[in-house]
Amino acid sequence: MSDPTTNPAVTYGSYLRIDDLLSLQEPRSTGPEHDELLFIVIHQVYELWFKELLHELDRVARLLTEDESHRAQHTLKRILTILKVMVAQLDILETMTPLEFLSFRKRLEAASGFQSDQFRQIEFILGVKNEASIARFAEGTRARAALQKRHGEPTLWDAFLHYLAREGYAVPAAHLTRNVAAPIEASADVQRVLIEVYRKDPKNAELCERLVDLDEGVQEWRYRHVKMVERTIGAKSGTGGSPGAAYLRGTVGRNIFPDLWEIRSQL
Ligand code: HEM
Repeated sequence: MSDPTTNPAVTYGSYLRIDDLLSLQEPRSTGPEHDELLFIVIHQVYELWFKELLHELDRVARLLTEDESHRAQHTLKRILTILKVMVAQLDILETMTPLEFLSFRKRLEAASGFQSDQFRQIEFILGVKNEASIARFAEGTRARAALQKRHGEPTLWDAFLHYLAREGYAVPAAHLTRNVAAPIEASADVQRVLIEVYRKDPKNAELCERLVDLDEGVQEWRYRHVKMVERTIGAKSGTGGSPGAAYLRGTVGRNIFPDLWEIRSQL
């Protein structure tokens, strides 16, 4: 039996560290401005979802490496459900008008979602590998170490191609031995393999469809984020120093797994 004087029973508050959690929202505006709490909470919630997404994406890659494709699909389903919730949450922030945002925007100084290392980690595991993202984080920080580690690790697409090779598909060797720190690029050879999968192999074609869902889900978030940015700050530049919506529009519509989109016009 545990001794309650030295080892108190676990409670809701102690397990979830509620006191710590509730102490983490620190508005910077004087007053503070009413809407700043929503702005902080929503970003913190996103960072928690990013953490969970990374946890699940790592699991999908691991399950594919272990040839557990059914379980990988199950985990992908969870990821897609989280992405839907993440997209829907933008509706809440859109209840904040441009003037309400302006009431505290200056206090953000140069802070921006641009500096979310977990978002960049998600990009890295999905194969959007841009080394320049690492340099934005100071040496010796957790963020930089995490990004450096992920930059050198295989992407989800690499795990998928290796899985297909073990399933008996003629995935070209160059793709199985590629430099995993490089971004994913479209390949006619891989597309030939994928067309074979779609025509003859419903089980793995289904897995491909879940990857397309994932790709589309991330793009949906990007699209909704840029529309929210346009309605909140118009064509103003971002606090992170980019041209704002103009920069963000350039990231929308870029396919994460280009081969899975290319084959659609050849099927
Ligand atoms: C009023 C709300 C928001 C505005 C006006 C806004 C604005 C912007 C702007 C202008 C950028 C471009 C970089 C810059 O120059 O700052 C950006 C990037 C970004 N924002 Fe937001 N944002 C908002 C809410 C959010 C929320 C809730 C999240 C959730 C985490 C988020 C995550 C990101 C991410 C990850 C990027 C980097 C995107 C990329 O480089 O592809 N933003 N945001």
